[in-house]
Amino acid sequence: MKRVITYGTFDLLHFGHINLLRRAKELGDYLVVVLSTDEFNWNQKQKKSYFTYEQRKAILEAIRYVDLVVPEENWDQKRTDMHKYNIDTFVMGNDWEGKFDFLKEEGVEVVYLSRTPDISSSQIKQDLNNK
Ligand code: CTP
Repeated sequence: MKRVITYGTFDLLHFGHINLLRRAKELGDYLVVVLSTDEFNWNQKQKKSYFTYEQRKAILEAIRYVDLVVPEENWDQKRTDMHKYNIDTFVMGNDWEGKFDFLKEEGVEVVYLSRTPDISSSQIKQDLNNK
């Protein structure tokens, strides 16, 4: 069984997220999503999501491509996650191109998928604010 992992906040889930999750799952048989906690978002990125961690988790768990959702609590857990979840392939959108190549040292394949153009959680918030 080939195991794939990806990371993100996935707030206000949109079709860019679905495209990413579908293509990530197609790279293997089992997809783990490591979801930023509210504390991690706030402390490390100064970002407050619209939906709470538990709400974002419940939404992701309802998606057919997603097999497991676990918390992302710090920047450094990626190396250990690769072993903890027995990962073969690490996937991120290409806004992160090259940033996680160091994970190859843990024996995983690192793949960057093209982002879906013209949509993001921040854009949705901004557009709604301007209405
Ligand atoms: N993603 C994507 N296409 C988009 C938006 C996001 O492929 N249009 C991917 C990202 O590259 C990442 C994952 O979805 O691998 C989760 O991204 P996240 O940062 O949670 O979503 P964004 O919509 O980019 O959120 P924000 O605007 O807050 O950065």
